[in-house]
Amino acid sequence: MGFTPDFLDEIRNRIPVSDVVGRRVKLVRKGREHTGLCPFHSEKTPSFTVNDDKAFYHCFGCGAHGDVIKFITETEGLSFPETVERLAGQAGLEMPEYSPEDKQRSQQRKSLYDVMAAAASYYETCLMAQTGAEGLDYLTRRGLSRATLKKFHLGFAPEGRTVLKEALLSRDGITEEMMIEAGLLIKPEDDGGGAKPSYDRFRHRVMFPITDRQDRVVAFGGRALRSDAKAKYLNSPETPLFHKGRLLYNLAGARKSAYDKGRVLVAEGYMDVIIMAQAGFTNAVAPLGTAVTEEQIMELWRLAPEPLMCFDGDKAGVRAAYRVAEKALPLLKAGHSLRFVHLPTGEDPDSYISGQGAEAFRGLLDQGQPLVDILWDMKTGAVQADTPEQRAGLEKSLSETLSEIRDRTIRGYYDKAFQERLTKLLGGAFVPDHSLEMRPQKKNQVTYSPKAFDKSSRTGSNDSPTGVKNLKDTGIFKGQMAATIKRERLLILTVLNHPWLLKNHHEAFATTDFESAELDKLRCEIIDVSLRESDLEHKSLYDHLLKAGYGKALEVIFKQGELKAEWFAWPKAAPEDVEQGWFHVVNRYRRVSDLEKDLKAAEMELAENMTDEVYARFLALKSELENAKGNEANIDGYGTASGREKLL
Ligand code: UTP
Ligand code: MN
Repeated sequence: MGFTPDFLDEIRNRIPVSDVVGRRVKLVRKGREHTGLCPFHSEKTPSFTVNDDKAFYHCFGCGAHGDVIKFITETEGLSFPETVERLAGQAGLEMPEYSPEDKQRSQQRKSLYDVMAAAASYYETCLMAQTGAEGLDYLTRRGLSRATLKKFHLGFAPEGRTVLKEALLSRDGITEEMMIEAGLLIKPEDDGGGAKPSYDRFRHRVMFPITDRQDRVVAFGGRALRSDAKAKYLNSPETPLFHKGRLLYNLAGARKSAYDKGRVLVAEGYMDVIIMAQAGFTNAVAPLGTAVTEEQIMELWRLAPEPLMCFDGDKAGVRAAYRVAEKALPLLKAGHSLRFVHLPTGEDPDSYISGQGAEAFRGLLDQGQPLVDILWDMKTGAVQADTPEQRAGLEKSLSETLSEIRDRTIRGYYDKAFQERLTKLLGGAFVPDHSLEMRPQKKNQVTYSPKAFDKSSRTGSNDSPTGVKNLKDTGIFKGQMAATIKRERLLILTVLNHPWLLKNHHEAFATTDFESAELDKLRCEIIDVSLRESDLEHKSLYDHLLKAGYGKALEVIFKQGELKAEWFAWPKAAPEDVEQGWFHVVNRYRRVSDLEKDLKAAEMELAENMTDEVYARFLALKSELENAKGNEANIDGYGTASGREKLL
């Protein structure tokens, strides 16, 4: 029992190798490839490369080589069929049944690519022949050069009902059924009056071939020449080869340019993409006659961190922008967002470039607005905020937007941004005294008192809320270092108050290096004790550390006013909350140290290979790291505003 080649191909086609390898190996993007430390042999400098275009990995050190499927079988010990099953699931593919008919159909499906290629080349020939004169004239009037027509393989579908059908049926190996399955022919329903003959789907239209990520033709868009046609654009239906929500027009053509420029442009129409490319904006793609989908947003982020939406300057274009903005919210990740270009009313990129020129368009691109602006416009554009009720309504609507953002750090930033704007909008007279975010009530927040611990712990209880102030006053600590130290203290404090954490999460604590040498010594001491004593109790741990000479350090930790607000670290917190809070801090720590490593690597690479692309990545990592560290300042999510006010 085997899988057909096209099924395996479809898996390889849908799942980028870097996605699969990236879960196991830390990959750094280098042009169109990714590199990292080889998982198949031990090495200190990366010689392992992953190429998504070619769908394989290769190690220049040990020669390991393969595709996604091989990678999983080699690294996870799954059998070939098990691996295929798992990857098929990830790719959203049904597992094939292995009946002979299925196999035959599958074999045919492989050749659907050939059918599509034959159709594309037929249409292309027609455009340049007598029969396509009208189409060629139209495209030329719209400003397309011969070179552009060729580059995008534009074509023409002649007027008759069965022109394509007859032309292709004369070719070897192409059947009517295949052409129906490929969406090229329409088979009318049998209404009882006998089967009606199939006919060409595309008639009297200019044809835009749509290719997949490997640049194979999988569908067409056809534009009517007459203004009274029923549909201006007619697209292929969903077929075994074509899933319109997943693909983007010109994806394969724009990929390299988008990588190189570090930017990808998203237009609404095929014509826009083509005119943009002709004007030098070769990094443009478009959705395929539908609104931008989540899968397309993810695909765009593989090309560049902030895809730039260049939608039409009309009501529909603005609506499309709002829609994609909302769709992106749950998907936002550090370093990944969207930007939006405003075109004058009635213009699309095609008409703007044709009218104002490429330079003017470039100017517009440089003024792309960030996602936060679009969301703000969307929420406030049409509302009044004069009465208390209207203001409350606006706050509610903003907090609904916030609740869509899953990434907690990003949500925090949007919260702040909205608060600032709200203040400005209301003439500066209004300062929100609370987060706009809707949070679930935390159990211990109100009743908790840090004094309970202080009394029992010999550390004294003159916990004046001066921790934050003292730190700042000394002027020695820069914000970042202070944040790092705060986090390290917080981890130790949590473990001291909840030593049971070490039972389950020993590894995480043991492998997290601290930056502060003093705190790191303390951490190692705790690890040592925990290895010796199996049922570690707070008291015995604490006594041990005192004896070992850490009294002063402990005193400092317990007296940090700012840590008082991190309620999960203190004795009364419920175990689930402790665990959650602690993990949150550990993970944040990991992220920062990973980013630091990435940044270092990028810096070294930059020294060797000074390209725009490497430099852009270096800058992106730098700002991401700054962001991540910035968040440390208020280890976000815990010690909410209200909790903090109460305690400090
Ligand atoms: P537009 O009407 O904005 O397309 O629709 P356009 O590219 O500016 O068209 P031209 O300049 O008049 O030739 C944007 C996209 O929406 C889809 C197509 O994908 C089109 O490129 N569309 C539009 C359809 O699928 N069907 C339609 O009837 C119209
Ligand atoms: Mn247009």
